[in-house]
Amino acid sequence: MTTTISAPPQREASRAKRLKARTHEVHEGVDRSIMSAASFANLERYERFLAVQYLFHHDVAALYEDTGLQALFPGLAARQRLHLVAADLTDLQLDPPQTMTPVFVSGDTVDIPTALGWLYVAEGSNMGAALLRKEAAKIGLSDDHGARHLAPAPAGPAPHWRAFTAALDSVTLDETEESRVGDGAIAAFARVQDHVDARLG
Ligand code: HEM
Repeated sequence: MTTTISAPPQREASRAKRLKARTHEVHEGVDRSIMSAASFANLERYERFLAVQYLFHHDVAALYEDTGLQALFPGLAARQRLHLVAADLTDLQLDPPQTMTPVFVSGDTVDIPTALGWLYVAEGSNMGAALLRKEAAKIGLSDDHGARHLAPAPAGPAPHWRAFTAALDSVTLDETEESRVGDGAIAAFARVQDHVDARLG
């Protein structure tokens, strides 16, 4: 008789890839909500989408100013996009939406593992931006007018993302901290979904 001992499932080596798998469903939910709300059908719909982006980037803006996170992610401060969303609103002669207290408050101590999950979502949203930028162009918006926050990074979206995930993957964490990264990413998508439901619903 042969006994088969199955090997334990291999844990994906890259934290970014693990996060992608863990958040697949919630990401699809957000994608679906944004696209089914016809966010790029006309300016009025797009303005609601811009409010969602403003609220989410407002939630995470403090992370980009955090010195602990800046030490882990070279060039982190320059990755912030809240000012670009604000400029898009100005282009379209809109006021920023009324904000609540952001999830991360400037000057507060952040839990680094949780913050990594949130940053993964904020930075990853650039990947979808390439697609959304094409939709925005169809209603007359561009990298210089109204859709600045969807413009690719000067280095190109893929190298920009790879630089981020390389830094994300190289942070050493124990198991408990690791699970807080995943929880952070799930919470970030849930927050985006809340903004979407409130503004695009
Ligand atoms: C603010 C809302 C959104 C957030 C927070 C978000 C978040 C993310 C994240 C974290 C990733 C990286 C996945 C990875 O690890 O490779 C990603 C990639 C992507 N997203 Fe989204 N996303 C958003 C909206 C959208 C929308 C509306 C679409 C279009 C339907 C979209 C399509 C994509 C695509 C095509 C990719 C690239 C997938 C790949 O290359 O593997 N996203 N997004």
